[in-house]
Amino acid sequence: MEESAMSILYSQSGLGPLTLQNHLVMAPMTRCRATENIPNELMVEYYEQRSTAGLIITEGASPSPNGLGYPRIPGIFSPAQTDGWRRITDGVRAEGAKIFLQIMHCGRIAHPLNLPEGARVLAPSAVASPEEMYTDAEGMQPLPVPQEMTGEDIKTTIAEYVQAAENAVEAGFDGIELHSANGYLLEQFIRPNTNQRTDDYGGAIENRARFVLEVAGVVTDAIGKDRVGIRLSPFGVFNDMPVYDAMESDYTYLAQQLDALGLVYVHLVDHSAMGAPPVPDTIKTTFRELFKCTLILSGGYDAKRAESDLAGGKCDLIAVGRPFLANSDLVERWKKGAAENEPDMATFYTPGEKGYTDYPTLKQ
Ligand SMILES: Cc1cc2nc3c(=O)[nH]c(=O)nc-3n(C[C@H](O)[C@H](O)[C@H](O)COP(=O)(O)O)c2cc1C
Repeated sequence: MEESAMSILYSQSGLGPLTLQNHLVMAPMTRCRATENIPNELMVEYYEQRSTAGLIITEGASPSPNGLGYPRIPGIFSPAQTDGWRRITDGVRAEGAKIFLQIMHCGRIAHPLNLPEGARVLAPSAVASPEEMYTDAEGMQPLPVPQEMTGEDIKTTIAEYVQAAENAVEAGFDGIELHSANGYLLEQFIRPNTNQRTDDYGGAIENRARFVLEVAGVVTDAIGKDRVGIRLSPFGVFNDMPVYDAMESDYTYLAQQLDALGLVYVHLVDHSAMGAPPVPDTIKTTFRELFKCTLILSGGYDAKRAESDLAGGKCDLIAVGRPFLANSDLVERWKKGAAENEPDMATFYTPGEKGYTDYPTLKQ
């Protein structure tokens, strides 16, 4: 019997009311091809090429001009953006995959040169990241001190998430993923180094979690629980997010609260394959126990480890990033045990088709 015939990975799976053609998820990956922050035909081709995944989670798309931290990342706040995304969801659906939009507000991980006129770099507190960021206009630049969000900014930003989620449904997405990982706005509220507020949104974890839980709550009210997932990176350190003592208990609280909200999935990030400190197994087990809907694990998976974690009941779906980036026909390659193209880091974030839609497939 062929290995794939016994596989869980390649068999149908479910996500809330959706049937997925397999257990493989394409992880969200920012690719900076959205000139003027609008999804375009090149992006349609890129996503269509990868639609043998069970579920595609798109690159992060900003719910607000304020959230567009990097050059050429897409938004989901204007009618032109919604129309652009509709072309992508149509293309992907025709090929059999389901598709969720990742909503990413960069918060303080943003440079004014990358933002449209009038947009602001916002964060829970006025604490700059010591890192630098690439800008199209002036190359690498130090990150600025963000403006501390006022109560009014918080209300406006929550409303922007709701509008973005509604736009996503209008654009034909099966759902949205709240990006609450990797040091962006939602995680900036959760973590004490970036949240030094003294109001209801800062201090104890019940307060630091308030913003993300309010966003998740109003977004599920607007588009339905079955359409809202969330990505978290407990123990993640990307974008100046140091590990601290209460990390495990803080994320245990989040697991309980997200379960109570009834989101359709939690998607955990483990970037140890990219050089980050390993994520303890205990936190993954905590989420498995406390969160009753779908659990997605990601980070450094190959076919063998994916199959083994699915068989071991560690999670329900496996998300894969770089292998999908470099191999649009990844499912076929994994099924056959065929060799894979190596991802070319030099073209991860550069404009144009090179290193984007031109990786060779087995058929070429
Ligand atoms: C080019 C690139 C862009 C990424 N952009 C995002 C993003 O927009 N949102 C996100 O949550 N993670 C992002 N990630 C992280 C991936 O989703 C994934 O967690 C990471 O690549 C590890 O998985 P892998 O070992 O399967 O590649 C990005 C990764 C890469 C390589």
